[in-house]
Amino acid sequence: PRVVVLISGSGSNLQALIDAQSYDELGGEIVAVISNKADAYGLKRARDAGIEAVALPHREYDSREAFDGALIKVIERHEPDLVVLAGFMRILTPRFVQRFYGRMLNIHPSLLPAYQGLHTHARALADGVSEHGVSVHFVSEELDGGPVVVQAAVDVTPEDTEDSLQQKVQSREHLIYPIAVRWFLEGRLTLGAQGPTLDGTPL
Ligand code: GRF
Repeated sequence: PRVVVLISGSGSNLQALIDAQSYDELGGEIVAVISNKADAYGLKRARDAGIEAVALPHREYDSREAFDGALIKVIERHEPDLVVLAGFMRILTPRFVQRFYGRMLNIHPSLLPAYQGLHTHARALADGVSEHGVSVHFVSEELDGGPVVVQAAVDVTPEDTEDSLQQKVQSREHLIYPIAVRWFLEGRLTLGAQGPTLDGTPL
């Protein structure tokens, strides 16, 4: 199975997927990495791993629709079975979401449905929650609102800062994203009309 990964930045989650692939633990092959930012460090990670790295700067397009149209073309040229959003910081058009519905995953740094949107660690700290974490979900038209596949929780301690919390959560991101991708690529994880199932059991 073929995977296309979309990024905007550092690409540490991309690296976790590349590492899993190198250990034969991804269940498929990352055939392209696409970034809407030409200077994203993740593009270098892709090249270093011998993966095609494509910069598609959104600023070169007049509208969100035009950019998403171009992005669809580049993605489809690689004929992916799965599209993986790994720190891809763009709001997607309905057309884009529909095109890849049921075969596009995202990772979001909160225990969804809590803290959709940005600055999740700061908001969790400000609320004084004792538990925070990360979610992998199928992408739907609602931003960070698609059906959740797997989550990992971390304890929040009084000593935690935004930075320390982000580090804790990211270490869990790097553990669970390759697992979720593998489930999908092995055909164990699917999104049906009733929601996601793993090995036929509703999640
Ligand atoms: C991660 O925190 C992820 O949860 C969020 O964007 C960040 C991407 O980090 N969606 P990286 O580029 O994978 O290092």
